[in-house]
Amino acid sequence: MPSFFINFSPKSKLKKGYTNLTLVDISKNALKKTRKRLGKLGKTIEYIVADVGSFVPNQQYNFWHDRATFHFLTEQNQIEHYTQNLQNFLRPNGYFLIGTFTEDGPTKCSGHEVKQYSENTLSELLSKFLHKIKCLNFEHLTPFDTLQKFIFCQFQMRELNF
Ligand SMILES: C[S@@+](CC[C@H](N)C(=O)[O-])C[C@H]1O[C@@H](n2cnc3c(N)ncnc32)[C@H](O)[C@@H]1O
Repeated sequence: MPSFFINFSPKSKLKKGYTNLTLVDISKNALKKTRKRLGKLGKTIEYIVADVGSFVPNQQYNFWHDRATFHFLTEQNQIEHYTQNLQNFLRPNGYFLIGTFTEDGPTKCSGHEVKQYSENTLSELLSKFLHKIKCLNFEHLTPFDTLQKFIFCQFQMRELNF
């Protein structure tokens, strides 16, 4: 199953039998650490150092998972590029799972401005080609003992591409 991950802990996915994984992060160092952590298990992963606000995939995927990266895109053109990629490179009936900061969540992360979302704003942004399955709110406790408010939503690609 071709799957696209924005450097989200792929170990559990590999153990569950997911194959053909692509892992993207703007940080070469982050991918290097992930590759080292996974050892042999991660040998089949395609690692791509890229900015998801301008990157263009070279294949379609059945499953696209973004945890805590989409909210780093703050410019309209980056957001449009990302959603256009989803529309073009997520297969019909494929799944998109996203975790972003909520509207009452952090306004910055690692010193960078972030954009905040709600169930409604995410759904509106994606509703042209994805339908929402469900969303849930989640409070993430960081290693620095601070709480970050997230929303996680699962979407599915509509069969017809409009
Ligand atoms: C909060 S971390 C989340 C890491 C991982 N997805 C997880 O859930 O554990 C955010 C990650 O997004 C990456 N990142 C930030 N902006 C990015 C961009 N424009 N394109 C690709 N990766 C980006 C950072 O390098 C960092 O590894």
